[in-house]
Amino acid sequence: MHIRLLGRDDAATLRQLTVDDADFDLEAKPGSTRAPLDAERALEYLTDPTVLHWVAEEGDRVLGHLHCQLVRKHAGQPRELLLYEIGVRSRARRCGVGRALTDTMCAWMATHGVADVWVLADNPGATAFYEACGFEEPADVPVYLTRSVP
Ligand SMILES: CC(C)(COP(=O)(O)OP(=O)(O)OC[C@H]1O[C@@H](n2cnc3c(N)ncnc32)[C@H](O)[C@@H]1OP(=O)(O)O)[C@@H](O)C(=O)NCCC(=O)NCCS
Repeated sequence: MHIRLLGRDDAATLRQLTVDDADFDLEAKPGSTRAPLDAERALEYLTDPTVLHWVAEEGDRVLGHLHCQLVRKHAGQPRELLLYEIGVRSRARRCGVGRALTDTMCAWMATHGVADVWVLADNPGATAFYEACGFEEPADVPVYLTRSVP
């Protein structure tokens, strides 16, 4: 297995991740109906320096992927990571792919002087996974809210 960051020439891989979305998510929460980005938006995503999107590949098949956003802050630690999404193909789970992806993320953080990463876990298996990978639940957990602007 080989882990690498997606780059500007990875539009086809990015598209495949979306097409195969269901296989990277829980069966009980079947793949979203997200549409792949068009070519222009895909290039924007792939060349955005705040986007860190790793894929774990075996040959040319992606087994798992991890997308983080680099978040700038106006005070304190100047940057942190938001672990926005992780998914491992259903048949490749519990083989260490997810842990290898988070290890790669942590190595990147150490190299780039980014001390903190946070994630919102949306299912018990994911919570157990993150805890196994060293994440801890803070004492005062913020409330998650969203708003859509039409
Ligand atoms: C969560 C996910 C990414 C984990 O990937 P993975 O490759 O299966 O994880 P690993 O094999 O590296 O697991 C490392 C350790 O995490 C823990 N772990 C992983 N999945 C777990 C689960 N479902 N239940 C309990 N513990 C789990 C175990 O301690 C495991 O070590 P072990 O297998 O030696 O016991 C994967 O299950 C997945 O893609 N789930 C669907 C998408 C999802 O839930 N994403 C997160 C949304 S917040």
